Amino acid sequence: MFTIFLYLFTNALILFTKSGAGSTNMNHLLELLKIVEGAMNADRAKVRSYVDQLARKLESEGEQKAAERLRRAADGGRMAKMDLAEIAVKRLPVDQESRMPLADEEHPHRGEFPLIVDGEAALVVQEFLVSVRAGSKLLAQGIDFVPSLLAFGPPGCGKTQLARFVAAELDLPLVTARVDSLVSSFLGSTSKNLRTLFDHAVSRPCVLFLDEFDAVAKLRDDRYELGELKRVVVSLLQNIDTLSSHTVLLAATNHDHLLDPAIWRRFNYHVKMGVPTADARVALFLAFLEGFADEELARNFAAVTETFTGAEIRKVCDAAKREAVIAGRRSIDPNAMLTRILRIHRSRAVETPNTLASNLKFARSIDPDVFTYRRLAEIHGVSLGQISKLLKHDD
Ligand SMILES: Nc1ncnc2c1ncn2[C@@H]1O[C@H](COP(=O)(O)OP(=O)(O)OP(=O)(O)O)[C@@H](O)[C@H]1O
Ligand SMILES: [Mg+2]
Repeated sequence: MFTIFLYLFTNALILFTKSGAGSTNMNHLLELLKIVEGAMNADRAKVRSYVDQLARKLESEGEQKAAERLRRAADGGRMAKMDLAEIAVKRLPVDQESRMPLADEEHPHRGEFPLIVDGEAALVVQEFLVSVRAGSKLLAQGIDFVPSLLAFGPPGCGKTQLARFVAAELDLPLVTARVDSLVSSFLGSTSKNLRTLFDHAVSRPCVLFLDEFDAVAKLRDDRYELGELKRVVVSLLQNIDTLSSHTVLLAATNHDHLLDPAIWRRFNYHVKMGVPTADARVALFLAFLEGFADEELARNFAAVTETFTGAEIRKVCDAAKREAVIAGRRSIDPNAMLTRILRIHRSRAVETPNTLASNLKFARSIDPDVFTYRRLAEIHGVSLGQISKLLKHDD
């Protein structure tokens, strides 16, 4: 079995990008250009943001002294992280009418939001990260590439997790557009809000995340006239076109078929975040149960959770962990976990009689190797003989 999980090879990826250093100066071209741009436009916040990004890059390359000097030059040595956070909060864009913020901002740390994907999705995300990291190299060759990734798939399959993972990997703030305030109740304001949001995003290095991206497309069925909708889509396209290589653009949608093809084309990477494969489910159980269950148990749980989303797996794991902690145990109760899993299966299945015999049969139909007679006897607190009698009787 050969499966690569993204979260496993991310470290290798980082090592790879660092050791393949090439020209150090080239690596800093992107920040230098933005600092010059900021200085020419007297945009102090932009200069400070990019100085900080460059200083962090230098530090990670072991150039502490150069980083310190750079910070001193920009701010007389007062360039604290707090300072930057304050600027960011003050500058969060708002809807002119309601004064509601148009975006949220978070600073995810590496390892805080592990992403578990395999197969094609893992390859796309890896390729995307490599191309973002190569931004300066591409720019030096005159290639102004806007790194953009569109994630699509059913709810609970890790699209928002992907955005946090990407921001953490790139060590950039994550600016998530708030679709509710973006789509203003005042005709014409949506385009203005989009402009404000994009202006905010390009003012410093960040990952701009348009979550629930289909909301714009769905306006068609909502209160918008077709003409107004077209204007919003055109405005969105124009805004995307003004981005340059220093803004990382991510978008997520549950309804990819609703998206305008012109918008679809603006994204150079597309990733399908579907329900996890069997191997990914094992990895999800192991990650979410963190030492509360061994691999054999994780494999058993994965075997009986086909069609479960990552979010559902997370939910059953969190409940099992809570229960273990409250009971003062260092491991989860496998029977309680299997009961929860069965409950989710049953909530999806067509109505069946809620008798012990039919529940036993239902469990056996999912996986008789996991739901053995012994296991079922333990789960239901009845004897082995009774289980065997009920199942035989039912046959
Ligand atoms: N592939 C995955 N890797 C790691 N965690 C996952 C994955 N899929 C789901 N999860 C877990 O499930 C939770 C919900 O996932 P997430 O919010 O990313 O789903 P989504 O695709 O954005 O759903 P929605 O369309 O409803 O917004 C996450 O917080 C995470 O804990
Ligand atoms: Mg989401």
